[in-house]
Amino acid sequence: MVSSKVDRRAFLKYLGAGAIAVAGTAAGYYVASKQPVCASTETVVVTSQLAPSVAIQTLTRTITETESRLASLRDAADARGLLVGTAVEPNYFYDPPYPTILAREFNFATPENAMQWGTSNLSEGQWDFARADALVEFADRHDMKVKGHPLVWDKFQLPGWVNSDLSADELRHAMQERIQTLVGRYKGRVYAWDVVNEAVDDHNGLRKGLFFNKLGEGYVAEAFRHAHEADPDALLFYNDYGAEGLGGKSDRVYQLVKKLLGNGVPIHGVGLQMHVSAKDYPDPREISTNIRRLAALGLKVNISEMDVRIRDLTDSLPKRLEVQQQVYHDIIAACVQEEGFIAVTFWGFTDAHSWIDSWFGADDPLLFDENYKPKPAYWGVLEAILGE
Ligand code: XIL
Repeated sequence: MVSSKVDRRAFLKYLGAGAIAVAGTAAGYYVASKQPVCASTETVVVTSQLAPSVAIQTLTRTITETESRLASLRDAADARGLLVGTAVEPNYFYDPPYPTILAREFNFATPENAMQWGTSNLSEGQWDFARADALVEFADRHDMKVKGHPLVWDKFQLPGWVNSDLSADELRHAMQERIQTLVGRYKGRVYAWDVVNEAVDDHNGLRKGLFFNKLGEGYVAEAFRHAHEADPDALLFYNDYGAEGLGGKSDRVYQLVKKLLGNGVPIHGVGLQMHVSAKDYPDPREISTNIRRLAALGLKVNISEMDVRIRDLTDSLPKRLEVQQQVYHDIIAACVQEEGFIAVTFWGFTDAHSWIDSWFGADDPLLFDENYKPKPAYWGVLEAILGE
């Protein structure tokens, strides 16, 4: 059961397909579940907030083809000037439900791997933009904004030739060339960039990776300056995990971006990755506080890679899916209230394609199931975006 109350008018307006004239109190309704829409009928199950004993009202009505378009996350987000996005893998465009749902539900796209250094520049001086071009072209066709990801990240997916054998000058040149080439290629077509990803250490200072070890902490500012020079109109973000609420790492990210701003570095926002478990996730109130302090610096904030793992819960699957719905709802509802919060991006949208399965173990972390059917989590997100 989603905790939020959805204004009846908003609920019906955004139902789109088969807007059910639900009798019952005017106080508002909980969306308990919604069966997938098919061509002719739809069943929406709602329960009255004020009279829990009232039997769940299950109403069915035949809907016309023109009404068969589901309300979408994108409709709800557009209505409040929010970006709702997903990680995108063009290799899945062949599977019809993938591009159909992508264009219907999202107005914001982030390449999952298409712009990783190891994908686009596997050999020195050799560039392969096929997947990145396909993503940007799809976004252009469907009036979606794009956030490029990631320009500088030395944790995974570096090409073999970018390694510690390079001198500091060689690595500095390689970083500059990557940024200028990639940002320059999509100048005016990519709205924002994750310029530096996961530079802050989980426990102390900056992470001692290839770039820090070879170039010192200044590599962060250098990366932002090169990106800004390559496209002065693009929004430039610092992106990280484990810094969504309040705590040591969140404070270190805050201090990093505050220092960058103080040094006149062209940084415009922070991405909070939000890879969380339904068993243990940041307190939404602390997330709000963190967003507020970042926004007070003049920065924009986005959730950049949200997924909610449920494998650590011990209940039945239906109960775990209900908890997942609540977590998605409560985190996003807290964020969308905040000035400066501009976007929520999920790290994929179907459980058929989630990095979680191979990195954390089999799970169902996203909004649509393996058969591209909306899960309770989808309705939790829709309700959160609809908000008050
Ligand atoms: C992940 C991709 O989803 C996987 O397919 C890939 O094997 C590893 O990287 N933080 C990030 C993302 O910024 O780029 C990562 O994406 C997930 C963690």
